[in-house]
Amino acid sequence: MSATTTLSPKAVIFDAYGTLFDVHSVIAAAEQIFPGRGDALSQLWRQKQIEYTQLRTLADAGDGAHYRPFWDVTLDALRFSAKKLQLTLGRTAEKRLMDEYACLSAFPDAVPALRVLRDAASGPGSATCASKPASISASSPARAVCTSASTSGGSRPGLAILSNGNPQMLDVAVKSAGMSGLFDHVLSVDAVRAYKPAPAAYALGPQAFDAHPREIVFVSSNGWDVAGATWFGFTTFWLNRQNAPLEELGVTPHGAGAGMSDLLAFLKTLASARRAGRAGAAASRTRRSPGA
Ligand code: LAC
Repeated sequence: MSATTTLSPKAVIFDAYGTLFDVHSVIAAAEQIFPGRGDALSQLWRQKQIEYTQLRTLADAGDGAHYRPFWDVTLDALRFSAKKLQLTLGRTAEKRLMDEYACLSAFPDAVPALRVLRDAASGPGSATCASKPASISASSPARAVCTSASTSGGSRPGLAILSNGNPQMLDVAVKSAGMSGLFDHVLSVDAVRAYKPAPAAYALGPQAFDAHPREIVFVSSNGWDVAGATWFGFTTFWLNRQNAPLEELGVTPHGAGAGMSDLLAFLKTLASARRAGRAGAAASRTRRSPGA
């Protein structure tokens, strides 16, 4: 796709963990600490992390009473997983693994594709981020850690992250992955104390861009997340990095592919369909107005 392609959605919003950041980049460190068990620990850690977020939000009566920041949930999930696998997790190993989690590797196709999207047509300007925090703490009152001037008036889509990650965690991850300045918004569900797939969490996207959900393409590698986003009303793209089967939830994302180049092709298709729709509407207006 050329950098000057005009894209149709008002915004493209990305899930973070597993979609832009490779949660399993912790395997190398885990393998050094627990030889032969690194992969198992990483897989269970991720599974429990997501399970805990969903449990905490499910158990809430809409008041966020059981909400804990994603950093805390991630640590809880690590401790449980180590116990379950009968691995002795000392303080040093725990700190090392959490430090790894703070600075996960980006998937190699993430930054190049984000740059293509940011540079598509004439954009509204670059984003600005708050300074890097000294360390990640459990919670932060900040609604978003990175914002820029409004995207209204520009012809490229707005770009955002909408993640379960708490703001400071996302700030460190974005910076360490070399993604500073690429997003108009980095949105954390911490603002509503409800984890995806709660509608209140997804609603942060349309609110940030003053757009209808269907005018936004939501991109996630997580089958459950893309299903939740489709139910919410987003146009969705499943970045199926793991070649996973479709979740049996009776919902199908609008597009799917294994990597970011497939997402760019999907966005190009949307733009072509939109142009064809506009041309068809103009032709029909001309037919209806013979004097025009
Ligand atoms: C996120 C997790 C769900 O970034 O991947 O929201």
